[in-house]
Parts: sequence; structure tokens; C-alpha cells
Amino acid sequence: MRMYDLIIKKRNGEELTKEEINFFVENYTKGIIPDYQVSALLMAIYFKKMNARETADLTMAMVHSGDMLDLSKIHGVKVDKHSTGGVGDTTTLVLTPMVASLSIPVAKMSGRGLGHTGGTIDKLESFKGFSVEISENQFINNVNTIKIAVNGQTPDLAPADKKLYALRDVTGTVDNISLISSSIMSKKIASGADAIVLDVKVGDGAFMKTFEDAKALGKAMVDIGKNVNRNTVAVISDMDQPLGFAIGNALEVKEAIDTLKGNGPCDLLELCLTLGSNMVVLAKKADTLEDARKMLMETIESGKALEKFKEFVKAQGGDETQVEDTDKLPKAKYIFEAKAKKAGYITKIHAQNLGIVAMELGAGRATKEDKIDLAVGIVLNKKRGDKVEIGDTLAYVHANDEEKAKIAIDGIMKNYEIGDSYEDNIPLVYDIIK
Ligand code: URA
Ligand code: CA
Repeated sequence: MRMYDLIIKKRNGEELTKEEINFFVENYTKGIIPDYQVSALLMAIYFKKMNARETADLTMAMVHSGDMLDLSKIHGVKVDKHSTGGVGDTTTLVLTPMVASLSIPVAKMSGRGLGHTGGTIDKLESFKGFSVEISENQFINNVNTIKIAVNGQTPDLAPADKKLYALRDVTGTVDNISLISSSIMSKKIASGADAIVLDVKVGDGAFMKTFEDAKALGKAMVDIGKNVNRNTVAVISDMDQPLGFAIGNALEVKEAIDTLKGNGPCDLLELCLTLGSNMVVLAKKADTLEDARKMLMETIESGKALEKFKEFVKAQGGDETQVEDTDKLPKAKYIFEAKAKKAGYITKIHAQNLGIVAMELGAGRATKEDKIDLAVGIVLNKKRGDKVEIGDTLAYVHANDEEKAKIAIDGIMKNYEIGDSYEDNIPLVYDIIK
């Protein structure tokens, strides 16, 4: 088999066989096929597309390019949850203890944040002593004993995806539905998921800017799941404004804990209930979404989910007294207010730009090497549709540097749009694809 022939075949719009897909993924991972040939093939895929069968074969080829996490020692259906990335998206921290407290095993690999989106692993480091690099043995043990463990992604899972993603990033071939969906699904499958609930974000702060694109991505991932025997559900949810109020690591941890205590933002709780009830049904712990939702609400009302979160923090070496008393979480030196200069209704909050404002305060990374400041970030006081008067606080800036705070205040004011009326009715959940 020659890589040259594969390029020509795809360039002419033909379908690649499973053997051909395995050939290029395997030999590219080994360094036998050079970047320039794979670049040409990626560009041909970008223009001529892949069908559902090719996309599923590409996914499994990437899964088999490295180690697969063996979760067979964990009893029960392992359901994973994945978000395509958003601003202030604290769902994993709320959802995983809720689900785990129903005795559903949560064995989760999470990432760090990059650019305007945050990462669960960074947020968890807000707890003193918390380890996001526990051994595979301890990971499996924790899931078997307390039903929950969250770890950083190991480099040996789906190495082909890592290489291909880096190449796509510099060759203008990132935004192809088959390439994105296979990239995401390969990592979930390699980390041992039996079933997967996807939160596909749509809007200003998301990767997918339109509902049509988000739906196509969701459908492609559900199709992969069907083809490779992993039950998959995709929830299409709003990311046209940040989720909840907090953006920033320790601030989002506090928001998650508040939600587990029953005092969180409505949109965050609602999204957790929607994603969570699908996880509970896939794990076969409830027959209907309605039953699952009631069970999940009960985990909050009874305090069981909060107890589970404490247990989880402690089991990974973290200081669980910071859960009881969130004043013990990292705190910024200053809190400033960004105030409305105009009266009216909030018509839009540019989520991506606010994510960048928080990143520049120190809450995120512009490059992989940047160190983050866990304490800083933004807490929104007004959201889309809210009425404001002149001088009302739009948002609070938590900062450790006065100069950076000034820039952030300015950035926040620029990215809130205030109009005379608000009519748009953007839903929190657009659609659920099964
Ligand atoms: N996220 C991924 O993991 N892969 C992509 O291709 C795009 C977003
Ligand atoms: Ca939030």
C-alpha cells in the first residue's frame, strides 16, 4: 500500500477502505509517513469529506494507535461525559458527584484549559494537595470504592489523535466534522467509556457557532457511537453567554459547591440535570429521563452529592474542609466592579471575549506553558435578558494585579450589549440527539 495512492483516491472523492485508514494512521503514528503526505490527505478529506463508515474506522484506528485504559475491573456501565468546550462551564464538577452518589461509576479523564475555555483538571487544583495524576491502580480502586475519580489525560491514549490534531492545527484542516468527531470520540473510547453523553456547545463562546453545525457534529458523534457499539447521546446546549456566573478556577469550584448545596445558578443546575439524566439512563439505573431527573434532584436535596464531592476531594489528597468552607479556597487580593454606563436590557454577552478577558487576568493559558492564577476571574452579576440601570454592577473582577483588573473591567463593559428591549429567546438546551 502506498500513501500516494490514498491521497489521489481521496482527492478524487472516493471512499477509503478500513485497511487504508488503518495503514495511514498506524504508519503516521510510527513516523514512517511524513507530515507533508498526511497534510495532503487531510486537505483532501476536508474537501471531499468522509462518510459515516470511514469516520468510524478513523476513530477506531486512532483508538488503537496507543494504549486503551482497561476499566474492566470496574463494575457497572462506565458512562463518560464530554463537553466540546465553553466559558465558565462548571458542569463536570457538579454532575460527576451527583451521578456517582447514585452508585454509577464515574471514571473520568479530563483536560486542562487552553485559550478562552477552562479545564476541569486546573479547577480541581484549587484544592490544597489535590492530585490529578493518580496511578491507574488508584484510579480504578477509587472508582470501585467511592464511584468517582478524575485524572489528567495520559500521553499514551490515542497518540495518533495528538499528532493529527497538531498537524490539522497548522494546515487549516481543523474544522471538518469527520475529523473533529473522530478526534473527540477516539479519546473517550480509549479512556474506557462504555457509553458517552456529549455536551455540544453552540454560540459565541463555542467551537460551533451555529445550531446547524453543532447538530451536524452531534449527529456525527452519535453515529460513531452506533458504529462502534458505544451508546452515545449528544445534548446541544447554549454557549452564547457564559454558563452560570463564575469564570475562573477557584471561583468556578465555589460555584459548583454552591450548586451541590442547592444554591447554584439555575442554568448550571438545569444543564447538569439534563446531561445527568441521560447518563443515569445510559447506565441503566433508571428507565425514563423523568425518573432519572428526580433521582438526581434528590442527591442535592439530601446532601448526598455534596458528601460525595467531599469524599472525592479527600480520596485524591485534597483538603476537603475547603468544600465545607469555600472561604478557604484561593482568593484574589482585589474585587472590583464593572458597571453599566447605560440603562436597558442586556441583549448579548460575548462569551468568547469574556473568556479571553478572564484568561488575560491570569485564569487561563494563552500557550500551553503559561501558569495560571487559580484565584482570579470574573463573576457575572447580570445575564442576558436582565434589566439594568446606569451604575448597576454588570460583573465583579477578582484580580491580583490592579493594572490587569482595569483592563478586565474595560473588557467586560465592551462585551456586554445593552439595548432598549430584549426579545430573543435562546434556549438553554436546543436539542438532544440519540
Ligand atoms: N476537540 C478535539 O478534541 N478535537 C478536535 O478535533 C476539535 C476539538
Ligand atoms: Ca460558571
